[in-house]
Amino acid sequence: MTEVPNPAHMTQDPIAGLEGIVAATTSLSDVDGEEGLLILRGCKIEDLAGEVPFEQAVAHLWQGLVDTDPHALRLAFGEARIAAFALVPLLESAPEKLSIYERMQLGLSALPQNTERDAAIAITGALPVLLAASYRLASGQRALAPDSSLPAAADLLRMLTGETPPASRVDALDRYLVTILDHGLNASTFTARVIASTQADMKHALLGAMGALSGPLHGGAPGPVLDMIDAIGAPENAETWISGALARKERLMGFGHRIYRTRDPRADVLKAGLRLLGNDNPKVGLAEDIERAALAALKKAKPDRPLDTNVEFYTAVLLDAIGIDRSLFTPLFATGRTPGWCAHVLEQQRNGKLIRPASHYVGPMPE
Ligand code: ACO
Repeated sequence: MTEVPNPAHMTQDPIAGLEGIVAATTSLSDVDGEEGLLILRGCKIEDLAGEVPFEQAVAHLWQGLVDTDPHALRLAFGEARIAAFALVPLLESAPEKLSIYERMQLGLSALPQNTERDAAIAITGALPVLLAASYRLASGQRALAPDSSLPAAADLLRMLTGETPPASRVDALDRYLVTILDHGLNASTFTARVIASTQADMKHALLGAMGALSGPLHGGAPGPVLDMIDAIGAPENAETWISGALARKERLMGFGHRIYRTRDPRADVLKAGLRLLGNDNPKVGLAEDIERAALAALKKAKPDRPLDTNVEFYTAVLLDAIGIDRSLFTPLFATGRTPGWCAHVLEQQRNGKLIRPASHYVGPMPE
């Protein structure tokens, strides 16, 4: 039987990329793309990142969803790291060809089921362990057990390197993790909310969010940013390299944003973090020269489209300066964004309805 097509669907053109469509109500974060403002539950990102530790920022974000004070949360994350270390034998038995990110997803899949509030703590606590263990196993080293007495950033660096990290690196990583906690209805967060809206559990919502984050137009950009900086090599090469890339219609990684029509405020928060690490890193000066050249070239190439520096440009520079391998940039982004994803899942579960938009059918109709 031929169903009579709904005329509204037949004539309605979809909004490309759902740009400008409001698809959720949230108390978690707001992005003002004209003013270059990011607000996390009433606080500007500049007043959180570098000002309060990760655990305190998460407690702030989770108010009303997972009510706990920062000290209790730090202890709970420590316990969750210990619990997650039990998954190391599974990671050891994983096929060698799995990437670090895929191993983290494997570990996440194997986490025990929890009530959703506890799942937020278990998953946020587990990610640093899964990241560090996957990295060390992939490079032929033994995974290191967590130290539950440490804050998450310090323990993550220790589990990666086996050494007590300098305070400046811990502070820089902590600043990074807070900077990326949450960011409105970006692609991965939307994915998490769509999955949560089907009443799937938090783990599955997070696995989907990790998938969405992995692409170069989202959380996969910082590795290629560092590749670009390395390929340019010296300030005098920047203009030629960049104009060549734009002539080939390539996108410059670390620039442009769906919402921001001005500078992404997180870029400056991360750039300020570089000061914690001293002034002797030649890559920082090179990155600043490349940024200037890129902004000038983008203005010339796309005069009608304001394209500015996004979070991923200084993510790459900062994480590299901390000494983190570029293979870990996207895994680390997922680790820092996890509390935001969890909060959106909890919010969606409380208030949301099944997310099920319509599509505009342009295929053939039966005779
Ligand atoms: N380099 C060169 N040109 C660009 C760039 C860029 N970085 N960004 C956008 N443009 C151009 C596009 O080619 C397009 O030109 P056209 O109209 O001639 O085809 C125009 O600007 C508009 O681009 P859209 O893709 O429509 O804009 P959208 O809002 O969808 O893109 C995005 C946002 C995906 C982030 C884009 O700016 C981009 O690809 N940037 C590079 C990748 C990157 O840095 N990703 C990380 C984003 S931050 C995050 O997700 C955490």
